[in-house]
Amino acid sequence: MEKVIIFDTTLRDGEQAAGASLNAQEKLEIARQLDRLGVDVIEAGFPSSSPGDFEAVRLIAQELKRLTICALAPANIEAIDKAWEAVKGAKHPRIHVFLSASDIHLAHQLKKSRDEILKMSREMVARAKSYLDDVEFSPMDASRADPAYIYQILEVVINAGATTVNIPDTVGYATPQEFGGLIQGILDNVPNIDKAVISVHCHNDLGLAVANSLEAIRVGARQVECTINGIGERAGNASLEEIVMTLRTRQDFFGLVTNIDTTRIYRTSRLVSELTGFSIQPNKAIIGANAFRHQSGIHQDGVLKKAITYEIMDPKSVGIPSSVLVLSKLSGRHAFRERLSELGYTLSEEALNRAFQGFKELADKKKEIIDRDIESLIAEELRTVTEVYHLDHVEVSCGDHSLPTATVRLIGPDGQSLADAALGAGPVDAVYKAINRIVGIPNELTEFTVKSVSEGIDAIGEVLIRIESEGVTYTGRGASTDIIVASAKAYMNALNRLLAAKRGGK
Ligand code: KIV
Ligand code: ZN
Repeated sequence: MEKVIIFDTTLRDGEQAAGASLNAQEKLEIARQLDRLGVDVIEAGFPSSSPGDFEAVRLIAQELKRLTICALAPANIEAIDKAWEAVKGAKHPRIHVFLSASDIHLAHQLKKSRDEILKMSREMVARAKSYLDDVEFSPMDASRADPAYIYQILEVVINAGATTVNIPDTVGYATPQEFGGLIQGILDNVPNIDKAVISVHCHNDLGLAVANSLEAIRVGARQVECTINGIGERAGNASLEEIVMTLRTRQDFFGLVTNIDTTRIYRTSRLVSELTGFSIQPNKAIIGANAFRHQSGIHQDGVLKKAITYEIMDPKSVGIPSSVLVLSKLSGRHAFRERLSELGYTLSEEALNRAFQGFKELADKKKEIIDRDIESLIAEELRTVTEVYHLDHVEVSCGDHSLPTATVRLIGPDGQSLADAALGAGPVDAVYKAINRIVGIPNELTEFTVKSVSEGIDAIGEVLIRIESEGVTYTGRGASTDIIVASAKAYMNALNRLLAAKRGGK
C-alpha cells in the first residue's frame, strides 16, 4: 500500500499558538516522543525567528538520526542560511522555504508583482538547494491564490530543485471539495509534478483542517503537515491523531498507510498538553477524555455485548491505558522507574532522583498514586527552567475575617535568602505580590487556571498561569496537593522563564 508521509509541525506551527512557548529542552523532549511515535519529518522550528528556536532546531538535528529534521525559512538569503546552520547536523536535513502567493498578500503585504515573487521563489529554492538535496517550498495562502499562478510557481520551484511542494490553506478558508480540486488541478497542470511530493498544510479556522487534508490525500497528496492535538496558529492546524486514525480506521476507503505507531498517540498527546499548558477538550476526537466513554444505557449495553456495536476504534490502538496502575508509598524506586518507562518517559538519572523524591513526598500525603499524578510530577521535571530564583518557603494566612497575608522566601541568583511579605485580595494575590516585591519584574497575569489532576480530596492541584511582559507570553505550571503552593510554584516557573528569555535563552 502507498504511504503518506507524516510531517509534524507541532514544534513550529504548533508553537505559534498564542500562549504556547517551549524552551529548547522541552522541544527536544517532544521531538524524542515524536520520533518514538514514528513521524517521518519533524519541522523543528524557525531558526531565523529567535536564538531559542535556532538552538532547538540545532539540538534536535544533532540528536535524532532516524527521521528528517526540517527548518523553516522565509524566502530571504539570511533566513535560509540560518536555517542551514541550524539543521546541518541532521542525518536527514530539510529546508522549507515559504513565500506568499495570493494576490491579497502580494498587494497588501509584500507589495510585489507576480513576476517578482516567481523570481524570488526560484532564487531562494536554488539557494537552499546549494546546501542540501531535500528542499520543500510553500506558496503561502495558496488556497486563495489564482490556481494558474500556483501551477506556474510550482513548475518553477520544482525546476529549481524543490523535492516537496506544500500547498497551504494558510487561513483555513478552503472547503474539502475546493481544496481537493486544487490538488487535482496541480496534478493535471504542473508538467514536472512527478518530480516532487505534493504536501498539504491546512489550518482549522472553519474547523475543516482535517477534512481538507484528507480530501487532498484522497486526490493524491502524499505528505500531510499536522500537529499533535491540532495546536497551531489561531484555531490551529490539522490534528495528527485525527488524520492518522482516519487513515487507519478507514483503510478500506483510502487504501493508504503511515509509519505511525498509533499506540503512542495518547502518550504524545498528554506530553504536548502538559508542556504547552493547553488542556484537551473532553470531546476531542481520538484523545479527549470522553472519546471512548459511553454514557447512554443503550450504547453501554451494546458495547458490553460487543464493542464494535458503538466503537469504531479500540482505545488500546491509540494507547489509552486499559487500567490505571496504582502506586503507593510502599512502591520502591524500581516500580516507579518501570511505570515511567511504561508511560514513555525517559529521564536522566538526576531528574529521576528528583521525580522519585517528589513521588515519595506525594505518597506521604496521598494514599494512591495514579498515572495522572505521575504525569504531573514528570511535567514538573520536564518544565524545569534554569532557576534564577528558587521558591524556598511560602506561608499564607487567610479566612473570611482576615486580610490575606503571605510570607515568601526565595533563594536568589547568588544563593542569598530573600524574604518578604504582602497583603492581597486573596491568598494567591498576596503570594504573587510578595514574590513581586523580591523579584521586581513588571508583568501582567493574563491567565490563571487550577484543576484537579485526579479525583478525591487529597488530589494534586495543578495550576497553570500565563504572564505577559513586553508583549511576550510566558507559561508557568506548578503542582502540589496544596493549591497555594502550586500557585506559587507556577508563578516562579513563569518568572524564571521570563528571566531566562531576558538573559538570551527562551
Ligand atoms: O500556514 C502556512 O501557510 C504556513 C507556511 C509557513 C507553510 O505555516
Ligand atoms: Zn501554518
